[in-house]
Amino acid sequence: MALSLRSRCLVLLCLTAVHCGHAALQLGSRPVAFYQQSCMDKHQVVGVLRQMEKFLKGQEIRFTEGLRIMKSKLASLQNSVSKLPQADQSAAPTTCPSLDAPAHGTKFGSKHFVGHEVHFVCTQGYQLVGSSTRVCRENGTWSGVSAVCKDISECASNPCQNGGTCVEGVNQYKCTCPQNWSGSHCQHQTQTAPPEWSVMNDPAFSRRPRCAQVNQAQHCSCDAGFHMSGTSDNSICQDVNECEVYRLDQGGKLCVHECVNVPGSYHCSCPRGYKLLPDGRSCEDVDECLSQKHNCSRGTSCINTGGGFRCVNPECPRSHGNISYVKTSPFQCERNPCPMDSRSCHLAPKTVSFHYLSLPSTLQTPATLFRMATAAAPGRPGPESLRFGIAGGNSRGTFVMQRSDRQTGELILVQQLRGLQEVSVDVEMSEYADRSFQAKHVARVHVLVSPYSF
Ligand SMILES: *[C@@H]1O[C@H](CO)[C@@H](O)[C@H](O)[C@H]1NC(C)=O
Ligand SMILES: *[C@@H]1O[C@H](CO)[C@@H](O)[C@H](O)[C@H]1NC(C)=O
Ligand SMILES: *[C@@H]1O[C@H](CO)[C@@H](O)[C@H](O)[C@H]1NC(C)=O
Ligand SMILES: *[C@@H]1O[C@H](CO)[C@@H](O)[C@H](O)[C@H]1NC(C)=O
Repeated sequence: MALSLRSRCLVLLCLTAVHCGHAALQLGSRPVAFYQQSCMDKHQVVGVLRQMEKFLKGQEIRFTEGLRIMKSKLASLQNSVSKLPQADQSAAPTTCPSLDAPAHGTKFGSKHFVGHEVHFVCTQGYQLVGSSTRVCRENGTWSGVSAVCKDISECASNPCQNGGTCVEGVNQYKCTCPQNWSGSHCQHQTQTAPPEWSVMNDPAFSRRPRCAQVNQAQHCSCDAGFHMSGTSDNSICQDVNECEVYRLDQGGKLCVHECVNVPGSYHCSCPRGYKLLPDGRSCEDVDECLSQKHNCSRGTSCINTGGGFRCVNPECPRSHGNISYVKTSPFQCERNPCPMDSRSCHLAPKTVSFHYLSLPSTLQTPATLFRMATAAAPGRPGPESLRFGIAGGNSRGTFVMQRSDRQTGELILVQQLRGLQEVSVDVEMSEYADRSFQAKHVARVHVLVSPYSF
């Protein structure tokens, strides 16, 4: 406000604090100007200032009074508001919660008051699932169910195989599979009748499938070496009997000897006395004689056989008359010198030797088993001719003895020997010089047959 003094001088006053401060500053900073301009004398100025002081005092009182009245009115308002009843609880709400447009869709209607409707429309390529129209009800809830815009093409691509039916759901489809089929796309054939090579009646060969929930569909699988059987909702993992599956396989047997099925796998086994080779399927005879695993007592010799061993101590022919023998090595006997005129003694074998042959039963015939020859002593001429023959032990015609060259005869197996058995045959070689008999040598051949082919 402008305050006019009785002089030509004006003093500006304002009721706001900033302007008053500004005015006071001007008055205070240039008090001398009032005197020097000499608009009024000093006495007059003091009077004006007294008047202004009174004016400000009056303003201050009125301002304070106004604040007091406003404070009391505010207090009484607060008081009356707090005494109002809790009106919201009893009264019906007038609005429903706000609804959003579905993804890939639009909402029409923005009023959420009771009785108002909202509508939903999906964009092209999407199909509305839920309520396309919803009404705000008296109790403040919306009628219907929330609307979702779903890709129309989900079932359109015929995702269900093997005659499965596609069922549209919210945000996904589901295949209902015909009998004997399972999986999220009916891609798995369920084995209601398990194949004959599965191990059924041993709980050690059955396991629960491992199942995982993927996209709200159950996916089950079996450990390696197991296959799923049973129905889709009651499935079990049954061991695959590899030994049966590959029993008649053209690509070769799993095991050379025996296949042992174990849960989830298999292994090969070999008969007693044989060991499994590092290839895991072949067998090899254990040479007990070489590996010192035998228990042959002193004075006997260890003979390795297919799957075992034999402790042998061949005996020389018994002495009779003037004929007697002495053992010159574990496998050789020599006849003691004969009286000059004892013909029977001279006709008796001069040497008897013992031979042990271990054969697999599958040995192909004819097979040369043994060769017999004579060696002339150094400085002395050898026999002019040799005759070979079988002296005994060939009642079934299993063997043939024949000359292979001038100095050698060979024993040939002509009939296959099957299974575990032992046969022995005596082979003889007679020496002639000047067509007269000189000496006879006998070799006793023991053939030890093992029933396996390895
Ligand atoms: C609201 O009212 C409707 C019937 O008008 C009823 O079906 C619904 O359950 C009610 N909802 C609540 C939360 O009371
Ligand atoms: C299901 O499979 C079993 C044998 O695995 C067969 O006997 C049956 O007929 C099949 N059912 C259908 C509906 O194909
Ligand atoms: C060696 O041991 C086997 C059993 O392990 C036994 O049958 C056999 O008689 C024994 N042979 C000798 C010579 O002790
Ligand atoms: C043994 O030889 C003698 C001659 O040295 C003879 O007299 C005797 O009869 C022979 N014994 C037999 C059993 O052949």
